[in-house]
Amino acid sequence: MAEYIYFFNKDTLIVKPPKKSPMFLRMIVLLFAMVCGVFICSIRLKQISNPTRIRVQSIRVIQIPSIDYGIKQIEIPRDNGTQQSEIPLVHYPKPQTFSRAECAHNPVQFFAIISMQRSGSGWFETLLNSHSNVSSNGEIFSVIDRRKNISSIIKTLDKVYNLDWFTSASKNECSAAVGLKWMLNQGLMEHHKEIVEYFNRRGISAIFLFRRNLLRRLVSVLANSYDRYAKLLNGTHKSHAKTLSRYKPVINSTSLITDLKEVEVTANKALEYFNSTRHIILYYEDLVTNHTKLNDVLEFLRLPQMELTSRQVKIHTGSLSEHIKNWDDINRTLNGTAYESFLRADYKK
Ligand SMILES: *[C@@H]1O[C@H](CO)[C@@H](O)[C@H](O)[C@H]1NC(C)=O
Ligand SMILES: *[C@@H]1O[C@H](CO)[C@@H](O)[C@H](O)[C@H]1NC(C)=O
Ligand SMILES: *[C@@H]1O[C@H](CO)[C@@H](O)[C@H](O)[C@H]1NC(C)=O
Ligand SMILES: *[C@@H]1O[C@H](CO)[C@@H](O)[C@H](O)[C@H]1NC(C)=O
Ligand SMILES: *[C@@H]1O[C@H](CO)[C@@H](O)[C@H](O)[C@H]1NC(C)=O
Ligand SMILES: *[C@@H]1O[C@H](CO)[C@@H](O)[C@H](O)[C@H]1NC(C)=O
Ligand SMILES: *[C@@H]1O[C@H](CO)[C@@H](O)[C@H](O)[C@H]1NC(C)=O
Ligand SMILES: *[C@@H]1O[C@H](CO)[C@@H](O)[C@H](O)[C@H]1NC(C)=O
Ligand SMILES: *[C@@H]1O[C@H](CO)[C@@H](O)[C@H](O)[C@H]1NC(C)=O
Repeated sequence: MAEYIYFFNKDTLIVKPPKKSPMFLRMIVLLFAMVCGVFICSIRLKQISNPTRIRVQSIRVIQIPSIDYGIKQIEIPRDNGTQQSEIPLVHYPKPQTFSRAECAHNPVQFFAIISMQRSGSGWFETLLNSHSNVSSNGEIFSVIDRRKNISSIIKTLDKVYNLDWFTSASKNECSAAVGLKWMLNQGLMEHHKEIVEYFNRRGISAIFLFRRNLLRRLVSVLANSYDRYAKLLNGTHKSHAKTLSRYKPVINSTSLITDLKEVEVTANKALEYFNSTRHIILYYEDLVTNHTKLNDVLEFLRLPQMELTSRQVKIHTGSLSEHIKNWDDINRTLNGTAYESFLRADYKK
């Protein structure tokens, strides 16, 4: 599993001053103070930027008395071609922009990867796209204009499933499965009724991808927003994984439980909304530990089996205690709660 190996290389951060003049040292100290100041400001800003939203949601969430912990695995009978026969699953799109040529008689499956930020969906999508017949077109709805209202969403989806959407992932005429990656907070929950209706009308299969360990996800969310800020400062796109894994976020232990619960509730709601669609539920941790799970995905998409590969680096490995600055605090907060397993679990349930 070479692709998960992460290289710790501390040497790269060492700044080598050419000559140790007092002026130079003073400049270094000044620069350091400035960087620290801006960094602290940004952290405060981040925390200030959306407290009201979380507050409101947290209060609502906490009042739900019998909420189950963990993202539920709602078992839906595997579609074997008889149960949902009214849904057209085989498509022969006729793109306006090109001809499908010799592949015009190959059926095309429509799918959507439904996920949350920092849940391994980028990695998963590169795996899918390594199949010579899969075109997964990325996070198309990260562009706000495309999800402004339901008509712009449907217009975008129509274009994607008609094979008229072009990205570097497009395999064009010989695509046997076409889709996109869609985050829950990109209009999907807001317009779920119309989207479910569209999925069922057009026979689009949903691939849910969630992360079991929501504490690890949270660490990843914080590290990623830090990394964006660091890039803003520097401008260069330097080694993403290296910066990310060196940074240890401080997690707000006061709001931690409600934050985790909020994520859980959102994921479960999505599963409920989409329960009438043809779908499969995947967990990032399972895919990492068990590559044969990918065969289930190919089978679900009715694609010929093929070895899928990705060179994307997994960022946070090792014990979580190495990745959280206020670990003792967090350990104490979750000790004895339903989320206790997040402290220990790596790629286990
Ligand atoms: C498909 O599902 C139906 C209804 O659940 C069942 O009766 C049938 O045996 C299944 N067919 C196969 C091939 O599994
Ligand atoms: C939807 O949004 C698009 C642009 O984002 C706009 O042109 C269109 O008029 C809007 N449609 C409705 C029904 O609001
Ligand atoms: C997959 O793509 C290849 C060309 O890249 C094509 O020859 C083949 O027919 C395609 N398979 C399917 C099932 O569409
Ligand atoms: C900016 O990136 C360069 C090139 O990778 C690196 O040498 C430098 O230390 C970075 N500066 C900061 C402030 O991160
Ligand atoms: C942590 O969260 C609580 C509750 O949301 C909030 O009142 C507090 O200000 C936060 N602490 C920090 C350091 O941001
Ligand atoms: C989907 O969820 C709704 C709401 O919880 C429920 O009423 C319905 O029976 C579910 N449908 C299926 C097919 O499970
Ligand atoms: C790996 O995944 C396959 C396919 O879902 C499953 O049959 C198998 O039991 C899994 N292996 C382990 C060790 O969990
Ligand atoms: C977390 O706290 C428990 C006690 O509640 C302790 O036994 C354990 O060693 C702590 N874990 C780490 C990694 O510090
Ligand atoms: C962890 O919780 C147990 C009871 O659930 C308690 O006995 C223990 O003292 C707690 N450990 C810490 C470090 O808070």
